[in-house]
Amino acid sequence: MADKLIIFDTTLRDGEQSPGASMNKDEKLRIARQLERLKVDVIEAGFAASSNGDFEAVQCIAHAIKDSTICSLSRANDRDISRAAEALKGANSARIHTFIATSALHMEKKLRMTPEQVFEQARLAVRFARNLVADVEFSPEDGYRSDMDFLCRVLETVISEGATTINVPDTVGYAVPELYGNFIKTLRERIPNSDKAIWSVHCHNDLGMAVANSLAGVKIGGARQVECTINGLGERAGNCSLEEIVMAVKTRRDYFGLDLGIDTKHILAASRMVSQTTGFVVQPNKAVVGANAFAHASGIHQDGVLKARDTYEIMRAEDVGWTANKIVLGKLSGRNAFKQRLIELGVQMESEADINTAFAKFKELADRKSEIFDEDILALVSDESVTHEKEQYGFVSLSQHSETGERPQASIVFTMDGKEVTGSSDGNGPVDASLKAIEAHVKSGAEMVLYSVNAISGSTESQGEVTVRLQNSGRVVNGVGADPDIVVASAKAYLSALNKLHSKADRVAAQG
Ligand code: KIV
Ligand code: ZN
Repeated sequence: MADKLIIFDTTLRDGEQSPGASMNKDEKLRIARQLERLKVDVIEAGFAASSNGDFEAVQCIAHAIKDSTICSLSRANDRDISRAAEALKGANSARIHTFIATSALHMEKKLRMTPEQVFEQARLAVRFARNLVADVEFSPEDGYRSDMDFLCRVLETVISEGATTINVPDTVGYAVPELYGNFIKTLRERIPNSDKAIWSVHCHNDLGMAVANSLAGVKIGGARQVECTINGLGERAGNCSLEEIVMAVKTRRDYFGLDLGIDTKHILAASRMVSQTTGFVVQPNKAVVGANAFAHASGIHQDGVLKARDTYEIMRAEDVGWTANKIVLGKLSGRNAFKQRLIELGVQMESEADINTAFAKFKELADRKSEIFDEDILALVSDESVTHEKEQYGFVSLSQHSETGERPQASIVFTMDGKEVTGSSDGNGPVDASLKAIEAHVKSGAEMVLYSVNAISGSTESQGEVTVRLQNSGRVVNGVGADPDIVVASAKAYLSALNKLHSKADRVAAQG
């Protein structure tokens, strides 16, 4: 029987660490349900000790998810580990992932600790965690740039203290495939008790090699767990992408010889959900989930595919969920059909009243747009008026006037702490005028570092999905808004970004 490759998804922890990608509890839960549907083996739900919000998100995911192991990150100290264990209470299967940096550079400059202090802290942390849960993962942060002899000593010791998984991060994305694969192989050969743990790879994508490095860790090094994120989401250039790893191992089973538990049909929906929730748009030529991933534009390719699909296609688009992109509902669809589709999409509403609010929004949208796609429904249920997030700012209505040769004018009504306010402004274009009208009241002083518009389902009839990224006092947040009118979508995205900017979500950084 072939070995199984464990897929450890860290979209909700390492992915979420990306500036602007932070998610609230409901968003995280919705993504966790999609990951469960994908049959991901382990979901790293957050870093419980980093903030109350993260603690609650881990706790809520630990209660709701039954089929995947739920993991919390924790630094190598008793307080963090206790917090992680507390948040994970009630999970069907719980894992604590504790880490401490082991490279000379990180120990000296960041931790200001001697190697002996780090060694001792790693040992005690794993011992402490093993007294709380049976499944303990240990990561030597910046492991790939650590001294081999020191790393062997630390890892041998934490395995004897009961660590069940050893994860070797290439924290800064410095590795190249052959060297990283051999690094894992050497560790496994030199550490006498290495067979008592599962070996895991965790690669960042700074040089665009995260997937290649992870695959080398599996093939050359013998790792049997890969840590990855949907769409490769993550700080800087991101993490190893789940969809690419999974489809590489599945498509080239002849080479890797490994089994996977993943139900690949749900990959595309997961990709869209993460992109829509975080505002991180997927590039069209992204492998597996990009809009062009299965599009054959050249005549020669089209001709070949029509004659025999495998002339140019190595995977079937439907195996990763592309056929799900069909018209699902329309103006005449009833509440039951809508509710059923929400269930199929993994959206759980807290009450019948919430379903009614979402259904009313759906009807409004169906009046303006004849074909409603899954993406429209997901955008609609993320809308703050449906999620009932207690937000400071909410969109009410907007009117704008633009005419060739005239300076555009906008007037917007929105709520500020429950009270309606009206703002008016002119601007370079209707979007600029609308956002200036908001800013005239809010006076956030934030700098806009990104503005992007994307057609949710491809045509001009589609809803426009706008992402606005704001930066203020070192904080970066993304706001997303969707509407068939892109000026309205822009105003919603701006208000959503302001809500995030003004929320008190200060947290401890995992690699700070
Ligand atoms: O990249 C890294 O080193 C990490 C650890 C915290 C596992 O994310
Ligand atoms: Zn990482």
